Amino acid sequence: MKVVSCDVLIIGSGGAGARAAIEAHDRGAHVIVVAKTLEGKAHTVMAEGGINAALGFRDPDDSWESHFMDTVEEGVFLNDQRMAEILARESPDRVFDLERFGAMFDRDEQGRIAQRPFGGQSHRRTCYVGDTTGHEVIMTLVEAARHRGIDYRSELVVTTLLHDPDDAGTIIGAFAIEVHSGSYLVFLASATILATGGAGRIYTITSNPVEATGDGYAMALRSGATLVDMEQTQFHPTSMIFPESAKGMLVTEAVRGEGGYLLNSEDERFMKRYNPEQMELSPRDQTARAIYTEIQEGRGTPRGGVHLDITHKGRDLIMARIPRMVKQFEKFANIDITTFPMEVAPTAHHFMGGVRVVPETCESTDLPGLFACGEAAGGTHGANRLGGNALAETQVFGKRAGEAAADYAVGRSPPVDHDAVFVQREIERLEQPLGAEGAAPHALKEELGRLMWENAGIVRNEKLLVEGLRRLRHLGRTQCAVKGSRRYNPDWVDYIELQNMVLVSECVLTCALSRKESRGAHYRSDHPKRDDSSGLVHYTCTLQDEVLHIGSVPVEITRADPTMRKGD
Ligand code: FUM
Repeated sequence: MKVVSCDVLIIGSGGAGARAAIEAHDRGAHVIVVAKTLEGKAHTVMAEGGINAALGFRDPDDSWESHFMDTVEEGVFLNDQRMAEILARESPDRVFDLERFGAMFDRDEQGRIAQRPFGGQSHRRTCYVGDTTGHEVIMTLVEAARHRGIDYRSELVVTTLLHDPDDAGTIIGAFAIEVHSGSYLVFLASATILATGGAGRIYTITSNPVEATGDGYAMALRSGATLVDMEQTQFHPTSMIFPESAKGMLVTEAVRGEGGYLLNSEDERFMKRYNPEQMELSPRDQTARAIYTEIQEGRGTPRGGVHLDITHKGRDLIMARIPRMVKQFEKFANIDITTFPMEVAPTAHHFMGGVRVVPETCESTDLPGLFACGEAAGGTHGANRLGGNALAETQVFGKRAGEAAADYAVGRSPPVDHDAVFVQREIERLEQPLGAEGAAPHALKEELGRLMWENAGIVRNEKLLVEGLRRLRHLGRTQCAVKGSRRYNPDWVDYIELQNMVLVSECVLTCALSRKESRGAHYRSDHPKRDDSSGLVHYTCTLQDEVLHIGSVPVEITRADPTMRKGD
């Protein structure tokens, strides 16, 4: 078995991983970035409409305080306020870093970075590159990392973190499969950063790429880390609904930011009945639920969506501000959105929960040597994330994680050995379905997607969640069969991902059952009100002897008292 050593191992090559890699490298660490598929292929590109930073170019009275308050109100006060404050204070400098690395943001009339309105925000602070901001960000970062000679390893599936044989709590790297050869690899690293993104793929309708199977959450949990807020899954209000192959594909919030209207089958701008002040730029949870309600109550389109119309803005503006949407609808649905409305419905988009970390350093609260950033870490967004805050999070906490991991690693004696018995047990776990009789993992993945959409979707209740857990336990016990060998075997990768997805789904369902109130993205029809008397806790997940335990920790209030402003 090949053993590879480095100071900082970064698992995941999206926006957070790349930013962490640059920072750790610039602080003198030897860095390796591992990508499950291809470097830079990540959910980052789906942050199409922009990155939030209180630059004050469009609205001079914007401030980090206002950005912080919007973030916490949108998160319905479930946020880790220290994380939200760091995000709001530091995102302007991280946007300037991106410019320094070469990102070409759109400009305003005075040549400054242009800023557009996005949902739930009191100021126009979302910086953008048309509707391909995430793409520009990731391309820029990969280029900057490549330029520094940072070592990227592609098509490696990391299956478990490794503990120090002499100090069981400490993480000293990870174990991986090289997809093309099927051979095994041990990475020994003084510091390991999880930048593995979220788990949108546990839902059948999702904006997420195939990589987003919750690997980081599952690995952290199995290694002894704590996850927080796993019931908080965000449904983006707008995605394509046809053709079938494009179902769930994101339709950026920038369409509404640039003035698009949401219309039901009666041609009514229905958001006036849900949030007359903010209308189409209401918080994402409210907008997604409003669309869901219109469809459920029979005011949807025959295909099961609502209309999103921007034709009144004229071809020139549409072509300049959302060119990707024009192409996307032309290519997939044969629709010219400059003259016809789009048809849209919600899609699973983002996990607000994740690994519990120390806000300032992104270090796991439980496992020395382990760090997490981006969507892999929980806390920043509370119960609901502002559009534009995901990219900001990748940059702010990617930098902090890279910095802290490098400082932790450099000067520490590097790990020299791993626990061979543990690795052998891991290999047995992985190889269990090879040659066995049973169900195809990809079929079970599809079944899981339907289960989660039906039982832990936009509207939940006890009956649905209990039924979801029952279905999940049955699915989790189903014997899988993987045909063929370990070499380039996508079925085998499906199997490994499925184990992670089942565990993450159990976290979502169980935390959703525990939260007996509605807060942000977590809406329970049997407990439709927010309840501050019992709700201001983070539900936590830990694994003990392979059994999931749900606990709770109080939300720390540092700046914004929930009674101060609305946030309902
Ligand atoms: O709608 C969008 O462009 C997505 C942005 C985000 O999730 O931050």
